[in-house]
Amino acid sequence: MAKTAHDPSMILKPGCYDGLNQQIVNEMHASLQYNAIASYFDSEGLPALAGHFNRQADEERTHALKFVKYLHDAGARPLFKSIPDVRNDFKSASDAVQCALEGELKVTSQINDLVGTASKQNDYMTHTFLQWFVTEQLEEVSTVSTLLQIIKHAGPSLLLVEDHVRRMAAAAPEEADA
Ligand code: FEO
Repeated sequence: MAKTAHDPSMILKPGCYDGLNQQIVNEMHASLQYNAIASYFDSEGLPALAGHFNRQADEERTHALKFVKYLHDAGARPLFKSIPDVRNDFKSASDAVQCALEGELKVTSQINDLVGTASKQNDYMTHTFLQWFVTEQLEEVSTVSTLLQIIKHAGPSLLLVEDHVRRMAAAAPEEADA
């Protein structure tokens, strides 16, 4: 595959440059989706859940910037493309968190595909870079799955979920900076 005009890298293997650029958009999309979910919880008078999802949004933006930095480090110029629309309308708390879970499963599949491309192309540097994301996805899918289960168990008692999220944030204050 021919290199594109912005890919002067002598290191990245074919396919990896485009895939890494696409993942910047995917992570920014995940960030915006989390902001929309946080807004839903804010409008429902549930500030702890809103805070949790705003922190998740910040994390996703950090993930996007890790891809930007990696491309620069590899001597390539990142390409910034537009972000697809996100969902803004949610029927319930579980609908909103289900949307978050589906988003994390999608990102997991995107990261897996990128690992597959790096592997096929013998791009071991990109493959190694991606391992952090593989582990991160396991944690994020697990966290949002647990939250969804808790919300389903809580039924209409969402103030109990608020308490749970506050305890979770207090136990992991570094979450805000991840
Ligand atoms: Fe960076 Fe949760 O995907």
